Amino acid sequence: GQGVAMVTAVAARLAAHRRLLEETLAPFRLTHEQLVAVQRQMREAMAKGLKGKPSSLRMLPTYVRATPDGSERGDFLALDLGGTNFRVLLVHVASGDVQITNQIYSIPEYMAQGSGQQLFDHIVDCIVDFQQKQGLSGQSLPLGFTFSFPCRQLGLDKGILMNWTKGFSASDCEGQDVVFLLREAIRRKKAVELNVVALVNDTVGTMMSCGYENPHCEVGLIVGTGTNACYMEELRNVTSVPGDSGRMCINMEWGAFGDDGSLGMLSTHFDARVDQASINPGRQRFEKMISGMYLGEIVRHILLHLTSLGVLFRGQHIQCLQTRDIFKTKFLSEIESDSLALRQVRAILEDLGLPLTSDDALMVLEVCQAVSRRAAQLCGAGVAAVVERIRENRDLEKLTVSVGVDGTLYKLHPHFSSLVAETVRELAPRCVVTFLQSKDGSGKGAALVTAVACRLAQMTRV
Ligand code: GLC
Repeated sequence: GQGVAMVTAVAARLAAHRRLLEETLAPFRLTHEQLVAVQRQMREAMAKGLKGKPSSLRMLPTYVRATPDGSERGDFLALDLGGTNFRVLLVHVASGDVQITNQIYSIPEYMAQGSGQQLFDHIVDCIVDFQQKQGLSGQSLPLGFTFSFPCRQLGLDKGILMNWTKGFSASDCEGQDVVFLLREAIRRKKAVELNVVALVNDTVGTMMSCGYENPHCEVGLIVGTGTNACYMEELRNVTSVPGDSGRMCINMEWGAFGDDGSLGMLSTHFDARVDQASINPGRQRFEKMISGMYLGEIVRHILLHLTSLGVLFRGQHIQCLQTRDIFKTKFLSEIESDSLALRQVRAILEDLGLPLTSDDALMVLEVCQAVSRRAAQLCGAGVAAVVERIRENRDLEKLTVSVGVDGTLYKLHPHFSSLVAETVRELAPRCVVTFLQSKDGSGKGAALVTAVACRLAQMTRV
């Protein structure tokens, strides 16, 4: 009688919730055809960018023409700005062996988003501190600067910051040579002159550091706070750099892919909200669907929506869900970890202040899975575009290539890396792609770019 009626009512409500959940997540579930279209659009944008035609991909030359050959030697300083922290490193390169001493310094948000002078002064303070601690004061070791933002490079040691990305917006830096800004800060601080040899994007550093051990490593990939890729392109295809033979590494700045509206069909309401609330609306649209700075925010917006539909948290208005960045991307990694029981997932969510039932926990898990799966597949479609281009460039039936990868999302998330690989296999069947996780790619890489440059400079001097 009544009991049966109640059970039926509960079952009907659950079924309705499930339907609403499915409807909400449907736009995140990409079909094979959609991924093929992303790959194709990426290919077209790459070709246009290389020719200097209007394109959301800037395809920036890096002036890196060679990967390390193992004969590099010496001590180098490296700086790494653009991820979660700022780091200063001392890198000792000996035969086939690289040793690193490094120190992490934080860049508070008020500095990342304050005045450029203050930011670069802080960087120099950190360098001076590191030199003192390491007993390096007064020495001027060759320095590689990993600066993970789009720069129009005019040479290996000169690059104009085109625009900030990720959480940075320091004033008076865009349009300036970053190495000049660093040298000016050194002058202001009356610190010892630094011998800046190379300005390096983190993707390039990652490719180089993996290339030290694996000669087939001709692609670099970052999936961390932001996302981006670089690869070795035939110089004859790089319109803005003279020369017809050999290759040059190209920083794609693929985070900006779609900024011309071409990803419009894939972008959901939730993506639009995350974009609008960011410090750079309309920009880095691909990055905002993939990288660690944004995935937690996408999830948070979906949870808010599901709550407003009454599907989650009994429809209660939950204050903490209104707080920006409360849902960290590392929660996705934790929640999706196979070793965790749903009960532990609940504990993580309760820690956040979310009063949930076990149905809620399962639904939150499904939301996380949908968001991270789409991210990994989009990233895979990008990699597929890159390796297919390399294969065609070289007129090969089959290409064997390695991709050096770094970034916390890629490394910490339990399924991200295998989903990227699976997508690449599906979309680029004629390429055999190995993914190599770099250890300390960006810092070590900057030192190696510097080491290669010093080796080549010595060769020309002889
Ligand atoms: C952002 C930057 C890019 C960097 C990437 C990963 O997309 O613009 O230069 O490589 O983040 O850190």
